[in-house]
Amino acid sequence: MTAPDSQSSPLVFILNGPNLDLLGQRQPELYGRDTLQQVEELCRRTAAELGLRIDFRQTNSEGTLVDYLHEARIHAQAIIINPAAYSHTSIAVHDALHACDMPIYEVHVSNTWKRDSFRHTDYVAIVATGQLNGLGIDGYALALRQVAAVLQKP
Ligand code: DQA
Repeated sequence: MTAPDSQSSPLVFILNGPNLDLLGQRQPELYGRDTLQQVEELCRRTAAELGLRIDFRQTNSEGTLVDYLHEARIHAQAIIINPAAYSHTSIAVHDALHACDMPIYEVHVSNTWKRDSFRHTDYVAIVATGQLNGLGIDGYALALRQVAAVLQKP
């Protein structure tokens, strides 16, 4: 397996949208008690095990999320994204993802399909390779495992 810090290891952008900086404090009954820092640590541990490099980021701004996706388009081999509320509203995020020709996994910590009907519109799901929905923060680690499996396929 390639050392995770090797420049030849695949790079995965892990992008988090608005209010996910409040993970662990905001509605813990829905999102759990783990913080975004703990999610990042989980992702770093999992990526190291899988021989992947990660670039882990969070923003509360739609334009910044689009800018991050433009960077991913050039530098990354896969994207894991929890767009948070922008999943349900942002055609700009949808379009930016559409321009990224690589595996894309959408993560939602909570099960959005069991929640408010406005969360049932998802502009990201229709451009994502797959979705990990309602699996808690394990969704991030499982998405990384799926990225590793898909990138290893000839
Ligand atoms: C979320 C689900 C979204 O509907 C919500 O707006 C969030 C978090 C999740 O991870 O469950 O902010 O993306």
